[in-house]
Amino acid sequence: MAQTYFASIQPGLEEALLDEIRRIGGNRPKVLTGGVEFDAARKRLYLAHLQLRTPTRIWLRVDEFRARDAPELYNKTRRYNWERLIGGEHRIRVEAHSKESRLYHTGKIADAVADALTDRFAEDLGDESPPEFTDDTDDDALVVMARIVDDRCQLSLDASGERLHIRGWRTEAGDAPLRESMAAAMLELVDWSPEDGLADPMCGAGTIPVEAAWRALDRPPGLDRAFAFHRWRNFQPERYQKMADELRDDVADELPAPIRGYDADGDVIERARRNAKRAHADDHVDFDTAPLSDLQLPNHIRWIVTNPPYGERLGESGIISELIKTWQNQHGRCQLAFLWPSKARDVVDGHNISRLHRTTSFDYGGISVDLWTTQRAER
Ligand SMILES: C[S@@+](CC[C@H](N)C(=O)[O-])C[C@H]1O[C@@H](n2cnc3c(N)ncnc32)[C@H](O)[C@@H]1O
Repeated sequence: MAQTYFASIQPGLEEALLDEIRRIGGNRPKVLTGGVEFDAARKRLYLAHLQLRTPTRIWLRVDEFRARDAPELYNKTRRYNWERLIGGEHRIRVEAHSKESRLYHTGKIADAVADALTDRFAEDLGDESPPEFTDDTDDDALVVMARIVDDRCQLSLDASGERLHIRGWRTEAGDAPLRESMAAAMLELVDWSPEDGLADPMCGAGTIPVEAAWRALDRPPGLDRAFAFHRWRNFQPERYQKMADELRDDVADELPAPIRGYDADGDVIERARRNAKRAHADDHVDFDTAPLSDLQLPNHIRWIVTNPPYGERLGESGIISELIKTWQNQHGRCQLAFLWPSKARDVVDGHNISRLHRTTSFDYGGISVDLWTTQRAER
């Protein structure tokens, strides 16, 4: 039976997620701000968690209805057959959001939902023990979200648990590390192809090279992870395991083209190497300490993808000039993609490179950044 899911992502990166959802066969994908809604049978929920590289989280849309007051919210929440998914063996946290609605007190919304769930189990199902309700300090709880906008309530159940960008290998970082999922989204949005190889000349903890290697090797990011839906009552562990095993068997042994990471800071390069080892990518990605000005790229690398440092004195930063010079030194055989703060756009515009264009902007560590690339992508 098909269900509706919502995969969330930083606003601005939705198109990357849309491409991925289409590839795993999600039906009727619809881009919304901050995510993509799609229909899928259970198999695709499993595949989505194993294979998608760009989302932060995936929610099951449980129900949607009008809710103008607490009794209406309570009654309509109680009628859903929650026992298919959860029960007395679970701890549940209710998250509530409200916008432009008569029901605006999020504490009361959460209470109405918790009461409805409790009574569903304790009364409607003839004395089944209800889930235990807990607060936001409980990271292991399953999360039910009630989001009310214009008096319409959307009830969702978090299928992911820990946020999906936390793959487990990036336990050491340098300055301003990029989320693993953002690195994956950058590669998706600039239409990077693994056959072209990749160099990140300011790789920090190695996020872009390792994510690129995982994609090039077809290594699913969700292998070896536990997700919230593994605890749902309708979870089919054997079916899931079979899918995971098949995907693991398909992981390639070799990259189709080299992937390299460089950084001026030798300590951070050591961290990148250790991160790559944890990601089982140390046999595939080479890291070297080198300042951008000394960079010598191997001939067969056709992409430079990076996120340079940017601090207080953005306008004075010469790093973009250096990066563009490095790219120009490749004499047109390389594509370039990088992030740069939106408020310092003039630093990039000032170079007057006609091939260089902005594809999107998104929030990165509290500031808006632009994704620039020389690739003319067909979208
Ligand atoms: C924003 S961080 C990159 C973070 C990285 N994407 C990650 O996820 O960990 C920028 C990196 O550029 C490096 N860097 C700064 N100036 C450099 C230069 N001139 N040459 C090479 N690396 C440089 C810094 O050491 C820092 O690690």
